[in-house]
Amino acid sequence: MKWSKYRNAYTKEVFYREEGDNVKLLGWVASKRVHKDKVFISLRDRYGYIQLVVSSEFEDAFRLARRLNIESAIAAEGKIRLDKRAPGGREVHIEKLYVVAEADVWPLTKEVLKNPDTMFDYRHLTMRGPRSRAILLVREGVVLGAIDYFTKEGYVYITAPTFITAAVEGGATLFKLKYFDRDAYLTQSSQFYEEAAICVFEKVFVIQPSFRAEKSRTRKHLTEFLHIEAEAAFLDHEDIMDVEEGLVKHIISYLNNNYEKEIKTLLKGSLLPEYENSFPRITYDEALSILQSKGIEIEWGEDFGADEERVLSSQFESPFFVTHFPVSTRSFYHMNDPSNPNVTLSSDLMAPEGYGEITSGGQRIHEYDELVNKIKSFGLDPSDYGWYLELRKFGIPPHSGFGLGVERVVRWLLKLPHVRDATLFPRTPSRLYP
Ligand code: 4AD
Ligand code: MG
Repeated sequence: MKWSKYRNAYTKEVFYREEGDNVKLLGWVASKRVHKDKVFISLRDRYGYIQLVVSSEFEDAFRLARRLNIESAIAAEGKIRLDKRAPGGREVHIEKLYVVAEADVWPLTKEVLKNPDTMFDYRHLTMRGPRSRAILLVREGVVLGAIDYFTKEGYVYITAPTFITAAVEGGATLFKLKYFDRDAYLTQSSQFYEEAAICVFEKVFVIQPSFRAEKSRTRKHLTEFLHIEAEAAFLDHEDIMDVEEGLVKHIISYLNNNYEKEIKTLLKGSLLPEYENSFPRITYDEALSILQSKGIEIEWGEDFGADEERVLSSQFESPFFVTHFPVSTRSFYHMNDPSNPNVTLSSDLMAPEGYGEITSGGQRIHEYDELVNKIKSFGLDPSDYGWYLELRKFGIPPHSGFGLGVERVVRWLLKLPHVRDATLFPRTPSRLYP
C-alpha cells in the first residue's frame, strides 16, 4: 500500500465534515481501551487527536485493534459519528484497519515518567505526549512570530558561522574544539557577523543555535540554545528597546491568534496576557535599590545572578527593562554612556514573576579608537578582533542590537519549571543524549 495516498482527512477535519462521511486517517495509537465487543483508540496525527471506535462486527479490524500496542502507526477508515461522550463530541466508527508500523510494548511506565532525568533519557519517545507536543508547537510559534515581525519591519534574514575564532560574550563560556590543526570555538552569538551585514541591509536578524559552556546548573541555562538576534544601523539604545518590546508583544499576539488550542491546553483554558502599556524601564541603579530594600546584598558594579533576577522580577507584573549596566558587567563592545562613562548603553528585558532575563541588547561602539581602547581596557588583544575592528574604518554607523533566548521566552510564557522543557533535545552540562 502506498500510505501517502491513503489519507483523505486529518483528525481536525473530522470536526468539520458531515456525520456519516467516510474518512481515511493515518496516525498513531496514542491510547487504547479494550471492552468486550469494542476497542476505543485515541488516534494522534499531526493536528491532534480523534477517538476511533472499532466494534466486533468488523471482525478483522477488531482482532487487529485488540492486539495493537500503543504508538503503533495505523491506517484507519470509517464513518464519522456524533457522540456526546466522545472527546470533542465526535468519533469515527472504523470499518477497515491496517498496521503501518507496529510498535513494541511501550517502555514508559509511570515510574519512568515520575523522574525528570529518566524522562529526558526517553525524550525521543516522551516528546509524543500531549503536553510536550503542545509546548513544542508554541515554541514553533515563537520563532514564526519573530520571523513575521522582523520581515514586516524590513529586517533581512541572514545566517552566521558556528565555528569562530574569538569570543563575543567572554572567554569563560566558550566551547573550544579542534578545527583541523587549529583551535576554534563554537559561537556564543552571531552579533559580530550581523554588525558586518548591517552595512548592506541596514536591518538584519538571525535565528540559530548559540553555545555556552555554562557549568551553572540553573533552570534557565542550556549549553545550546536557540538564539534570535537582530541588529540595526542608525538605531540607538532607546530605539532598540522599542524593537525588543515590539517583538515580544507581537510574539504574544501571534501565539494567541495561531496557537490558541495549544496555549489553552497548557494554561488551563486561558490565553496569554497581552500588554497594552509600554514596558517599564528602570536603570541598574534603581534595580539595585529595589534589591537592597529586599535585603539582597549586592554592591554597585556586580552583575545580577539568578537570585537577584528572581527577586527583582517578582516585583513586576509585565516585562520590564533594566538599563545602563555598569561597564564591569557587560562585554567590551558596549558603548559607554557619554553622560556617565561608568555605565553602558545596554539593557536587559526581564520577564515578570521571577522568570528573569529574556533579552540582552544595547548600542555598540562604532568608532575605531574607542573600540581599540575598550578592548585593551578589558585585557583583550585587539589583533584577535581584526575584521570586527576594520568595520569601524569603513563606514559603520551608530547601531544597536539584541539577542533573545527562545527557550527562556517559552519557559516564561508557559510557566515551565525549566528551560529544558522548552526544547526538543536539551543540552545541559549533564545531558548530551539523546
Ligand atoms: O545576554 P546574552 O549573552 O547576549 C548576547 O549574546 C548578545 N551578543 C546578544 C546580542 O546583542 N546580539 O544572550 C542573549 C539572550 C539572553 O538574554 C538569554 O535569553 C539567552 O540569550 N541566553 C540563554 N538561554 C539559555 N541558556 C543559556 N545558557 C543562555 N545564555 C543566553
Ligand atoms: Mg544577557
